[in-house]
Amino acid sequence: MRKKIVAGNWKMNKLMDEAVALTSELVNMVNDEVQGDVKVILCPPALYLPVIKRYIEDSSRFDLAAQNCSDKVSGAFTGEISAAMLQSAGIGYVLIGHSERRQYFNESNAVLAEKVNTALANVVSPIFCCGESLEQRQNSDYIGFVKNQLTESLFHLTPEQLQAVVIAYEPIWAIGTGLTASAEQAQEMHAALRGHIAEKYGREVAEEISILYGGSVTAASAAELFASPDIDGGLVGGASLKSREFTNIIKAR
Ligand code: G3P
Repeated sequence: MRKKIVAGNWKMNKLMDEAVALTSELVNMVNDEVQGDVKVILCPPALYLPVIKRYIEDSSRFDLAAQNCSDKVSGAFTGEISAAMLQSAGIGYVLIGHSERRQYFNESNAVLAEKVNTALANVVSPIFCCGESLEQRQNSDYIGFVKNQLTESLFHLTPEQLQAVVIAYEPIWAIGTGLTASAEQAQEMHAALRGHIAEKYGREVAEEISILYGGSVTAASAAELFASPDIDGGLVGGASLKSREFTNIIKAR
């Protein structure tokens, strides 16, 4: 049974005391209000990970993700954080290939494949982000473009390795814009990606992979999105910074 996951990507937001307060509010609200088996993954700035880990340790529902890791194993790479460091700090997940890192830090599919490899080698589960731009959606084979992101960064993995990967489809034109993809648009891509995985790895493996939707998810849009057969949860940005809104999104899963 593939995992139901709602992850909150805080990006470069919140000061330390605000991050602690948000976490404490979220844990209390979710523990009081959320039923079922949805996994909640918080993705705070890396500096805060060990601190926030202390606030979620008593809840098996919560886990933590870093927002990035190096493609290098260790060494003279000032400012970088390795997957081994994340594992040593008890961090279970890492976002890899977020569109903002692809855009601002020129992260190619090949570099992201190396990041996936080092994460898996250190027992940190990649949340692999993919998605097309507005220009690609309007003028090209946008489904083929996103499929190729998986082909070039994930399809070197064994079936067992791939089963540790969570995929997050985030159409770039929906990130931070308030323009959420419709449930039909998101389901179209999710089904295409699951089919692409099935072609390579077989339907049984493909059905085990959690595919999250990200891009202006709100409490108002979450229920319809999550009702789609190939949407297993969400990767939430702005709305995850507000405890009530994020809790309502989690309740919708
Ligand atoms: O990683 C999630 C993020 O890219 C989505 O941001 O603010 O559109 O929910 P937002």
